[in-house]
Amino acid sequence: MTKVVTLGQFIIERQSEFPYAKGELSRLLRDIGIAAKIVNREVNKAGLVDILGEAGTMNVQGEHVKKLDIYANEQFISALKSGGECSMIASEENEDVIHVNSAVSKNAKYIVAMDPLDGSSNIDVNVPIGTIFSIYRRKTEKGMCTMEDVLQKGTEQVAAGYIIYGSSTMLVYTTGHGVNGFTLDPSIGEFCFSHPNMKFPSSGKIYSLNEGNYVHFPEGVKKYLKYCQVEDDETSRPYTSRYIGSMVADIHRNMIKGGIFIYPTTASSPKGKLRLVYECNPLAFIVEQAGGRATNGFKRILDVNVKEIHQRTPIFIGSTDMVEKAEEFMRQYS
Ligand code: AHG
Ligand code: MN
Ligand code: MN
Ligand code: MN
Repeated sequence: MTKVVTLGQFIIERQSEFPYAKGELSRLLRDIGIAAKIVNREVNKAGLVDILGEAGTMNVQGEHVKKLDIYANEQFISALKSGGECSMIASEENEDVIHVNSAVSKNAKYIVAMDPLDGSSNIDVNVPIGTIFSIYRRKTEKGMCTMEDVLQKGTEQVAAGYIIYGSSTMLVYTTGHGVNGFTLDPSIGEFCFSHPNMKFPSSGKIYSLNEGNYVHFPEGVKKYLKYCQVEDDETSRPYTSRYIGSMVADIHRNMIKGGIFIYPTTASSPKGKLRLVYECNPLAFIVEQAGGRATNGFKRILDVNVKEIHQRTPIFIGSTDMVEKAEEFMRQYS
């Protein structure tokens, strides 16, 4: 029987890697883990409680907000506020940043950007959904945070992670020293260390994108898509198409099996649909730490200038060989 290592134990054991750390980041990660367990409990009984369906409101994205979007947002905000390690929060579900002004938090050194519930369109149909988080050290010394504290490049992240509520519930995160995965054991209510040092396969045979947008794809994406679909035994093509509609679930599957996820510019999303600050940057940090690649088709996602919290970007992310091949087509045709 292998020894069970919980997320909390792992964080404490790894804290020795950061001799200067006084435990704040460790406590912040644990606060996120607690909120994830609370959200997981509601996700698991969605359908039995009045948490399915639309909340009857639109968010800043112009999307119909689901009840679970709101519930998840409230749980993560409450855990971050009470944990005392976070001084400002940026969330997909809030137009403006949330200042955590309590006596204990207002000078806290960390900023959290999050997508509290990723894949909302899948909530009511029992398809995996997720949560994405990104952690920065504040730039201002203390007192009220400013936008400068949250509009930081992806390279400045100190940690990033996601939770996937699927056939099992997993928390996967990085602090810049590789990627590790934890699986929730509901019988003891703990995330247990299950996927040490996750590595993104350098190549793969799965491509994930919404082909319904084909007509409006950039020419380079159309050409790459046809490349994926052509018979070629030497390179095991045609590849397989897999698209769930939850970015976290598509990328998690590709990280285990190999593959590429693309959300390019489309007619309805001329700058791309996915959000840089709380979807693309954290997932790019994780994927790069696992040995994969993440660009906007031309430029590394983590190097993209951040101008506003709900900024969108095209994204090509996954197995390095596949992303580089797609970039070749983008350079040549788009
Ligand atoms: P969210 O539910 O947080 O708004 O994100 C949904 C995103 C992403 O998870 C997914 O890959 C993408 O939207 C799906 O978009 P389409 O339905 O346009 O393909
Ligand atoms: Mn949304
Ligand atoms: Mn999302
Ligand atoms: Mn969301």
